[in-house]
Amino acid sequence: MSANPDKSFILTFLGVLGALGAFTVSIIAIAAFMGRHDRPQDPQALARLEARIAPVGQEITDAAALAPPPQAAPHPALTGEQVVAQVCSACHGTGVMGAPKIGDKAAWEPRFKAAGGVDGLLAVAQKGKNLMPPRGGKPDLTDAELKSAIETMLKQSNVQ
Ligand code: HEC
Repeated sequence: MSANPDKSFILTFLGVLGALGAFTVSIIAIAAFMGRHDRPQDPQALARLEARIAPVGQEITDAAALAPPPQAAPHPALTGEQVVAQVCSACHGTGVMGAPKIGDKAAWEPRFKAAGGVDGLLAVAQKGKNLMPPRGGKPDLTDAELKSAIETMLKQSNVQ
């Protein structure tokens, strides 16, 4: 039994503090020891490590890598016949929904005259009209493709 209870408390307290301090230092030492191996010194291992993190750590300096992928390039130009076969003939082949039928001169001629020629019809085909969808429903058709499709249908309907 200690004569001075305060002194025994302080001794115990200092003992606990010392033990905690020693524990902290040893944890830091173990962490430092384990972390020592994180970055390999061996150049081969270093190269492997860099290859592993490369996809997220790469700087794009190559202009070609920044260019849009080739499949984003515009589709090759279609001929008027191809556009008519693939798109327009769905309606203009049979004349459904009141579409002027290919080969029907009487259906095309007044429209051709009213529009003031191919360019006028092109303007209508770009915008669409009633049940005629803009660009025949194929928005990626170029103006040139649309125009040659109209010319093809007019020619096949014997309208000039
Ligand atoms: C979904 C059916 C449909 C498709 C597909 C379609 N058309 Fe039409 N088109 C119509 C209809 C219906 C009309 C008649 C519109 C009206 O006068 O009410 C029309 C009218 C037209 C006219 C006459 C416009 C005018 O001023 O009277 C042109 C030119 C034309 N289409 C071009 C095309 C071309 C070129 C394509 C293919 C790229 C095409 N159409 C595809 C339904 C279609």
